[in-house]
Amino acid sequence: VLAALADANGGAAAAYGDDTVTSRLEASLAALFEHEVAVFPVATGTAANALALSALAPPWSAILCHREAHIAAAECGAPEFFTGGARLVLLEGEAGKLSAAALEAECAHTLRPHRGAASAVSLSQATEAGAVYTPAEIAALSEICRGQGLKLHVDGARFANAVAALGCSPAEASWKSGVDALSFGLTKNGAMAAEAVIFFDPALARDFDYRRKRGGHLFSKMRFVSAQFQAMLEDDLWLRLAAHANAMARRLAERLVKLPGVRLAYPVESNQLFVSLPEPAAAALESRGFLFHRWETPSGRCVRLVTAFDTRREDVDRLTAETAGCLQEIGPPGRNL
Ligand SMILES: Cc1ncc(COP(=O)(O)O)c(C=O)c1O
Repeated sequence: VLAALADANGGAAAAYGDDTVTSRLEASLAALFEHEVAVFPVATGTAANALALSALAPPWSAILCHREAHIAAAECGAPEFFTGGARLVLLEGEAGKLSAAALEAECAHTLRPHRGAASAVSLSQATEAGAVYTPAEIAALSEICRGQGLKLHVDGARFANAVAALGCSPAEASWKSGVDALSFGLTKNGAMAAEAVIFFDPALARDFDYRRKRGGHLFSKMRFVSAQFQAMLEDDLWLRLAAHANAMARRLAERLVKLPGVRLAYPVESNQLFVSLPEPAAAALESRGFLFHRWETPSGRCVRLVTAFDTRREDVDRLTAETAGCLQEIGPPGRNL
């Protein structure tokens, strides 16, 4: 990716996406997704989500999403702002996955216009709890969407991890399962601020040039974002990096659960782990220099660990050994209560 950035830096190029790197991007992504696509590079996942949703949801409408969805929990109201006021309706489901039953129940409400008409559903793939929707699960949700006239958006900040975990094609994980718009993220997979909004029906992208410009994400030096995509698509680098991150997460999970008093709040399906361990052990790990977030889960407070494209086996093994050391230091369970 860095080499591609250096290459893109050579010579002069047309601005605002009229350069040769950006103009090839739509064809490259159409080949990857085996479908016609309209592609709009942006710099952050928040911009990708909020702008994509603004094209799908009018201001008076509701966007249905999981209670823990990043758009609801961690985007500072950007979807509401960019849609001009669409409301997020928060639904339940295990491990951050929207359940078909919850979606159907919400769609059955008939208090329109007072409640506002639902216009779109947004899923996170992988979810904020690290779970991965199968294509069949997405297709089932999409069928409900079709029946209700709702558009289906996927927050794919970790789409690479999901596709690598599923072993399916990007097409199967998106438009073949009924996805209308995808926020396709590369930043969490090793790129330097490279995300894209992808529409599988170009008609949905009719006004998107204006939305992106107005939202401040039409870069004069677009080639630097596009070059990262081209580098990541070459030889499936994006999938290889994500598969590596997923493998490191599995390795870490397998080792940590063997330690006394350590449990996982969710099965590890991508590159995120939610590890329940005694609080004094978590604090001891922090005092040894490890940095992580505490995370509330249905089975209690956990530490959230995320593996990445550059996580090494020795990093995993060292964290496991240090965790074992911290557990030993605090003594057997019961002593810390
Ligand atoms: C699932 C998900 N979606 C979207 C984002 C937003 O990305 P950014 O921080 O680039 O705005 C994140 C970032 O943590 C995320 O985890």
